[in-house]
Amino acid sequence: MPQTIIIYKGKYGATRQYADWLGEAIQQPVTPVQNVTKDQLHTADFILLGSSVYIGKLLISEWIRRNAQLLKNKKLLLFVVCGNGSPKEQERIIKHSIPDGLIDRSDIFFLPGRLIFSKLSWKDKLLLKIGAMKAKNPETRKRMLQDVDNVQPELLTPLVNKMSVLHAAHSSAPTGI
Ligand SMILES: Cc1cc2nc3c(=O)[nH]c(=O)nc-3n(C[C@H](O)[C@H](O)[C@H](O)COP(=O)(O)O)c2cc1C
Repeated sequence: MPQTIIIYKGKYGATRQYADWLGEAIQQPVTPVQNVTKDQLHTADFILLGSSVYIGKLLISEWIRRNAQLLKNKKLLLFVVCGNGSPKEQERIIKHSIPDGLIDRSDIFFLPGRLIFSKLSWKDKLLLKIGAMKAKNPETRKRMLQDVDNVQPELLTPLVNKMSVLHAAHSSAPTGI
């Protein structure tokens, strides 16, 4: 069985929820990014990264940059938890957060997140209010401050299927003598 690890970074629980569901679905360990050891990274065949997005950037992006040398020799997959699903915004997030060529675009999965305004820190409330004030479209402005919860386990199906294919291919590959 190949070694797989799910590593995540989120703030209010949406990313952790997806990471936990994924861990159950593929029966693999789940670790918050601050607890990952170099040893775990070295021994993993597949690394599944999960992160939410704040102000256009992945929360996990600094960690990815710091560990890029080690990560570039691994098979990486990424799930991104965010509020904005537009393809243009998605490409912008990837460009700002991940070194070029580190993760194949087909291995990046976008998942809709959760935002409950009353649960945010004062700083995040303020950032959202400033962002909403800057939005030109009144509909966008309203939407940015509305509660939303689109976190659902079924949305992980494409990623779970991809992992099954990768695990099966790895297990049937010749190992040499
Ligand atoms: C202050 C703030 C900034 C955000 N910025 C973005 C953003 O730039 N793009 C986006 O798609 N979602 C943005 N979001 C939405 C979060 O990515 C979304 O709520 C996500 O589910 C949070 O997941 P977490 O609880 O795991 O951190 C923002 C949310 C907050 C509170």
